[in-house]
Amino acid sequence: MAKEKRRKIYIFDTTLRDGEQSPGASLTPDEKLKIAKQLEKLNVDIIEAGFPVSSPGEMRAVQLISATVTRPVICGLARMVPKDIDACRIALERAKKKRLHVFLATSQIHREYKLHKKKEEILDLVAKNIKSATKDFKDIEFSPEDAARTERDFLVDAVRAAVNAGATVVNIPDTVGYAIPQEFGDLIAHLVKKVPGLGKKVTLSVHCHNDLGLATANSLAAVLAGANQVECTINGIGERAGNASMEEIVMAIDTRRNLVDCYTDIRTEEITKTSRLVSHLTGMVVQPNKAIVGRNAFSHESGIHQDGVLKKRITYEIIDPKKVGLSGSQIILGKLSGRHAFSERVKKLGYKLGEADIDRAFDRFKKIADQKKYVFDEDIEALIQDEITEIPETWKLEYLKTTSESGKPPEAILKLRRNKELLQATSQGDGPVDACYKAIESITKLKAKLTHYAIQSVTGGKDALGEVSVKIQIEGKEVTGRGASTDIIEASVKAYLFALNKICANMWGPKPSPV
Ligand code: KIV
Ligand code: ZN
Repeated sequence: MAKEKRRKIYIFDTTLRDGEQSPGASLTPDEKLKIAKQLEKLNVDIIEAGFPVSSPGEMRAVQLISATVTRPVICGLARMVPKDIDACRIALERAKKKRLHVFLATSQIHREYKLHKKKEEILDLVAKNIKSATKDFKDIEFSPEDAARTERDFLVDAVRAAVNAGATVVNIPDTVGYAIPQEFGDLIAHLVKKVPGLGKKVTLSVHCHNDLGLATANSLAAVLAGANQVECTINGIGERAGNASMEEIVMAIDTRRNLVDCYTDIRTEEITKTSRLVSHLTGMVVQPNKAIVGRNAFSHESGIHQDGVLKKRITYEIIDPKKVGLSGSQIILGKLSGRHAFSERVKKLGYKLGEADIDRAFDRFKKIADQKKYVFDEDIEALIQDEITEIPETWKLEYLKTTSESGKPPEAILKLRRNKELLQATSQGDGPVDACYKAIESITKLKAKLTHYAIQSVTGGKDALGEVSVKIQIEGKEVTGRGASTDIIEASVKAYLFALNKICANMWGPKPSPV
C-alpha cells in the first residue's frame, strides 16, 4: 500500500471525561465501557476515560476501560498534584497503552483569582510534577489551562518547561471558548515557531470549547497552523456549550482534504452509530440541525432541493450519507415538495401509477401537506389506495361541522353535493360520528346498517393522518369504505360516503332503493 503523504491528525476523544462534564450527563462505569468499546470501533487514537481521583466510580470506570479496551491509548486526567497523578497510575495500571494528562492554569485571570500563584510558581509546579511522573509514565500530556487567554510569552515558557521536563504531548486549550479562528491559528503557529519539535517529536494538540460556536473552526485553524492532535467529543458534548465535535472535525478534514492536506484514521461509517449511543446513554438529545449527526443533516424539504438531489445527489449534499453510516439521503415530503419527489416516492413504495393518477394523487397529497407538517409513507399509501380505486363520487362532502356541549347530544351539520344539488341536514346522535351518519342518511335517504367501524392512526404525532374503515349493509349487501384525514370525524364521514358511493355506482349489486 502506498504510504500516506498527508499529515496524520490524531483524534483524542474526551467524551468520557470533558463530555461527561456536560450538565445532566453522567454515566455509570458500565455505560462508559460501552461507549469506550464503540470508540474503539470508531478507531479513535486516544480515549480520555476519566478523572480517576474525582470519585471511586470514576476510578472504577477508568480501570474497567483500561482492562478491556486495547487498541487506543487510554488516558486519565490529573491536576498538577501528586495525589491525582497517583490515582491515574492506579487507574491505568492494566492499560496496554496509557497516557497521563496533567493540567495547570496559566492565564493571568486563573493565576490571580483561582490559584493565587505567581508565574514562577506555576513553572516550578509544571517542571517538578511532570519530571516526577516520568517514573511511571512514558506518555505525558500537559495542558496549560486557559491557554487561549494566557500571555503569549508566558505560554511559551510554560510549554518549554513541560517539554524539558518530559512531556510528550502539549495540548493548548481554549478553555472558555474565547478565541476566534484566525487568532487561534496564529497562536498555534507562534508556538510551533518558538518551541522546537512541537507538532513533530512532541505532539501538538488543541482542545477547543464552543462558547462562541467556534470550537470546530478554531480546531481546524489550529490543524492548518501545525497542530497534529485534536481533542473533541461525540456530538460536541462537554462543559457549558460543549467541546469541538468529533464528527464535524473528522468530516471537515475528510471532505476538504484538498485544502487541509491531512487525514484521520476514523472509520467514518461508525459515526452515526456512535452518536446515537452517546445520545442514548447520556440522555443528551442531538439537535435536529446538528451538522453530520442531526436528524435533518441529510434531509431535504424544499421542492427545488429535492428535485436537485433526485437528479444528482451532489447538487445539495457535500457528504455521502453512507459515509457516516446512514442508508442514504432523506427526502422529507411536505408542503414544499414537488411532483418529482412525490412520484419518486410513489414508485419507491411499489406503485405504478399513470400520469393522470399521479396528478390526482399529487393534488390530494398537497392538500394533506397543507394540514400536516410531514407526509409520511403511510399517508401516501392511504391516499394512493383511495385514488387508484376509482369510484364515481355520487355524494361528495362539501361541509361538515359537529358540536358537542355538555348535557346535550352531539350535533352534526352536513352538506353533501350530488351533481349540481347541494343538500344539507342537521342531526343528533350518540356521538359526533353517529350524528354525522344520521345526517348522511337524512340527505341520501339511503338506510344502511353500520356493521364495522375502525380507526387507525396511519402516522405518528399530534397531526397524524387517521384512517377510518367501515362496513355497511344495505339490502343484504355489504360494502366497505375507507377515508383518511387529519380530522377523525371527517375521515369517518369520507369512509361512509365511499361505501355509499360504491353502492350508488352499482359496483356491488343493483342500485338500492331509497328508504
Ligand atoms: O478545557 C480545558 O481546559 C480542559 C483541560 C483539562 C484540558 O478540559
Ligand atoms: Zn475542556
